[in-house]
Amino acid sequence: MTDREVVIVEVGPRDGLQNEKVQIATADKLALIERLAAAGLPRIEATAFVSPRWVPQMADHDAVMRGIVRRPGVVFSALVPNEKGAEAALAAGAQALAVFTAASESFCQKNTNCSIAESIARFRPVMALAERAGVPVRGYVSCALDCPYEGKIAPEAVAAVSAELLALGCNEIALSDTLGQGTPERTQAMVEAALKRAPAAMLAGHFHDTSGQAIANVEAAWQLGLRVFDGAVGGTGGCPYAPGAAGNLATERLVAHFAEKGIATGVDLVALQRTAQWIGTRLLPGRVA
Ligand code: HMG
Ligand code: MG
Repeated sequence: MTDREVVIVEVGPRDGLQNEKVQIATADKLALIERLAAAGLPRIEATAFVSPRWVPQMADHDAVMRGIVRRPGVVFSALVPNEKGAEAALAAGAQALAVFTAASESFCQKNTNCSIAESIARFRPVMALAERAGVPVRGYVSCALDCPYEGKIAPEAVAAVSAELLALGCNEIALSDTLGQGTPERTQAMVEAALKRAPAAMLAGHFHDTSGQAIANVEAAWQLGLRVFDGAVGGTGGCPYAPGAAGNLATERLVAHFAEKGIATGVDLVALQRTAQWIGTRLLPGRVA
């Protein structure tokens, strides 16, 4: 772990797959997770303990989390919206949790049926459970640059929600460009605002690549000191409640970017590229349907 200068968080099994319309076999999800772990990804968001009515693709969360073959040096986490999800995720063996809210009220309502303040209130019992279990909790701030319903988001709104999540006890904030329409200039302004409330070591960058700017946005955040970045293998994903949001930044592009800069991620790029091709073959029938 010590040789990693940048930590790559793989969110493909959750954020990459959640929007796929055709149900992917649990065995395929487990095979994907195994390949990602074998490729050297140190943190893998494996599934989401959310309502199966809201996100049917994640309905097998229990079987996925219980089915993972654990590996020393790899942390397998779960996304949770509330206490019910946190209880189930921890019982199934999640080694870290992630809660999620937004910098936009409209998106928060559409995604979780509550206001930002209500979402944070729901996280209090999550934090208590996590503390008892001794697992860390990441907090996502969605729509950190643009919202599909409200347009451009003020950097200060992102900073304020980030500060609330940190006060709650989150150990990391994932500043998330859910729509993927951000530019390096706006990324810089947003990260600078967040840095007034949190040290760079507690911030992560989560970018989507809708307008092809995700790597430039990563670079802008890296220049400001961020050293944790999310990717989804194969550039999979999107959010069912964020119309217009295309895939997450492909992990293999992220790893290749840092390799070109001579910055170690500890990830085997060739193994990752093979995994991207493999998941492509699994998703193709769903894309065509
Ligand atoms: P609700 O309908 O308002 O909740 O949903 P409720 O409390 O009224 O419960 C309704 C039903 O859901 C009940 O079941 C609950 O038991 C059940 P019933 O009695 O009707 O059979 N329920 C649950 N089931 C399983 N797991 C749970 C859970 N909680 C309640 N944890 C809720 C509120 C938050 C549950 C719902 O809105 C939800 O699950 N939303 C999730 C949406 C989601 O997963 N979106 C995608 C992830 S966020 C994202 O993509 C952005 C991010 O990746 C960053 C980025 O990419 O930019 C993070
Ligand atoms: Mg995402």
